[in-house]
Amino acid sequence: MNTESLFKPFQSEKLELSNRVVMAPMTRGFSPGGVPGPDVAEYYRLRAAGGVGLIITEGTAINHPSAVSGASIPLFHGEEALAGWQKVVEAVHEAGGKIAPQIWHVGMARKPGDEPNPEAAPVGPSGLDLSGNKVNEPLSEEEIQQLIQAYAQAAADAKRIGFDAVELHGAHGYLLDQFLWERTNQRTDRYGGDLVGRTTFAVEVVKACREAVGPDYPIIFRYSQWKMSDYKARLAETPEQLEQLLQPLVEAGVDIFHASTRRFWLPEFEGSELNLAGWTRKLTGKPAISVGSVGLKSEFANRAEQVEEDDPAAHIDPLLRKLEDQEFDLIAVGRALISDPAWPNKVRENRTDEIEMFNPEALQKLV
Ligand SMILES: Cc1cc2nc3c(=O)[nH]c(=O)nc-3n(C[C@H](O)[C@H](O)[C@H](O)COP(=O)(O)O)c2cc1C
Repeated sequence: MNTESLFKPFQSEKLELSNRVVMAPMTRGFSPGGVPGPDVAEYYRLRAAGGVGLIITEGTAINHPSAVSGASIPLFHGEEALAGWQKVVEAVHEAGGKIAPQIWHVGMARKPGDEPNPEAAPVGPSGLDLSGNKVNEPLSEEEIQQLIQAYAQAAADAKRIGFDAVELHGAHGYLLDQFLWERTNQRTDRYGGDLVGRTTFAVEVVKACREAVGPDYPIIFRYSQWKMSDYKARLAETPEQLEQLLQPLVEAGVDIFHASTRRFWLPEFEGSELNLAGWTRKLTGKPAISVGSVGLKSEFANRAEQVEEDDPAAHIDPLLRKLEDQEFDLIAVGRALISDPAWPNKVRENRTDEIEMFNPEALQKLV
């Protein structure tokens, strides 16, 4: 197997990486009190040492009381949590890797009463949950401005404590995506309306982050058609609609798009082999990260049919072909890297028979 296309250096305007393998952001919940400790630093260091070109951390909370659900989800604000993150960055850099935090607000995906701030109500564009039921009042303009500033502060802190880039979590039905998605955004002001109107919040967040980090710092924007609550949901039915969605984000200052799919080899629109990342690259001219079931036969969150028939080299051939064709630039690998931190090195050295296969039980422990 000639894996050259996976291990070629990546060079873009603002980010250089030693190869094309990205660690996908994965919530692990091993940061008690929201503070990532030495075990979290070791967890990421091992993936850098194992050959990952760019690590994107698990989602980490912007400074807002209802940003996340769970007392062990890492925060991205407060001295203690940021000091913990700084140690993570140092560990990854010592191992020769690069790392970006994924900054996160879950919006209406939060259940009332959830830790770490049980009294904080879930917030979202129209106060609607992911099924479209009314749970809360729509966010006010003032609240929206506070949220935008919280994203910008997180981006500024990412740069200050040494991260190589920042990723905004605009995917999977969380806050940014709730603005993009018609079902959860029923606003009639400038943050709602048609597809372009629904990009306004994301655009203002990206602009504020850009202002906070300056012109040379890489901003990655992750988005998806699918939602955690609805795998069939779509933001864009056609390439034209996708362009309407992405173009304002390009103009706002996104450098790299991360198009989240559950199976990277599936075409996104009829009449073309391109997947979502492929279309994103074609329509925006920006580098794109693809993702979805690399090294695994079962797609994300389908846990029923796992393990038995899994194959560590699953889907590698189409992946290498798509990279050679420059359909997209980078590939994120999620679950395969949880079970085996050395997945990239083993693939590069044709040692796939030594790969530790993903098993959901691996999620029970961190290192
Ligand atoms: C345990 C777990 C936690 C995840 N947490 C996040 C997250 O915090 N942010 C995010 O954007 N995606 C998250 N995802 C989705 C992954 O980033 C990735 O897109 C998905 O697992 C598909 O890639 P894979 O098939 O290589 O695992 C998570 C996935 C898993 C398995």
